[in-house]
Amino acid sequence: MGQIFRARAHSKVNLHLGVAQVRGDGYHELSTVFQSLDIHDDLTLELLDDPTAAPITLTVDGPYAAGVPTDSSNLVWRAVELVARRHPPVALHVHKGIPAAGGMAGGSADAAAALRLANAAFAAGLSDDELMKLAAQLGSDVPFTLMGGTALGTGRGEELVPMMARGSYTWAIITNREGLSTPVVFDKMDELRAKNRVGDPRMDTTAVGQALISGDPQQLARTLANDLQPAALSLRPDLRKILESGENAGALAGIVSGSGPTCAFLCEDDAQAHNVIAEVTADNPGTRGHIGHAPAPGAELLD
Ligand code: C5P
Repeated sequence: MGQIFRARAHSKVNLHLGVAQVRGDGYHELSTVFQSLDIHDDLTLELLDDPTAAPITLTVDGPYAAGVPTDSSNLVWRAVELVARRHPPVALHVHKGIPAAGGMAGGSADAAAALRLANAAFAAGLSDDELMKLAAQLGSDVPFTLMGGTALGTGRGEELVPMMARGSYTWAIITNREGLSTPVVFDKMDELRAKNRVGDPRMDTTAVGQALISGDPQQLARTLANDLQPAALSLRPDLRKILESGENAGALAGIVSGSGPTCAFLCEDDAQAHNVIAEVTADNPGTRGHIGHAPAPGAELLD
């Protein structure tokens, strides 16, 4: 067996997701506060000894493997190619613990972890700054999932500044069988905004920044905001009932995570999060629940 490198890819929640106008390049200007969650995927990269093997092979397993591509359309494949155009044959494997197409940046986090794996396996010697530039080429959320922790994201989400955050926050994460396409949700938001059916973009992150410094989950709960939520709810009315069940079950607050359809409920502690998961999954067939803690680190190599 060839040498094996391992990495962990963490998911994220957007505590604040302010979305302004669409730009000339088709992306929307964002003002967002990201926090990494310990719900994660595990990746391996094996350097194959056989020089005649295919340059890249990819396999996927785990609870959220369904529908994840195993060809060059997967961002992990493209991440390896970005680190080195020519490289020894590698076998990549992703164990998916993060829901796919769920608004939790699972695919982006995998790409960030693959950048670190390829950098180590090929001894490419890329600095963190260089990896961040490659990450931005792969997708808007890839730079944050590489960096992790808590950060303000502007531009299309790739311009990052770390934020101070005290304490740790507990989330009940509710996933569902059917995913949502991110571009479709952004388009729906534009459509609702053109018809004056949603409010102005919320680009000011002062309140969430203050709540994070207080370390008080109740204060943080009052500041959660997602400009994509009306669009996600319009496309998926079933999410409205999930949000209601979570709040009835005692969560401090519930939001659609990113572009959805995952819903994230901020809780006081693990016991409350267990309760929320039990009640929401009982009321909403087809949903599954996970407890997440934030902040977690960015994509990291494991020994
Ligand atoms: O950057 P990424 O490939 O992850 O973005 C996927 C899609 O989400 C984009 O093609 C675009 O339609 C939408 N998007 C956007 N504005 C952003 C980020 C993503 O409109 N800031």
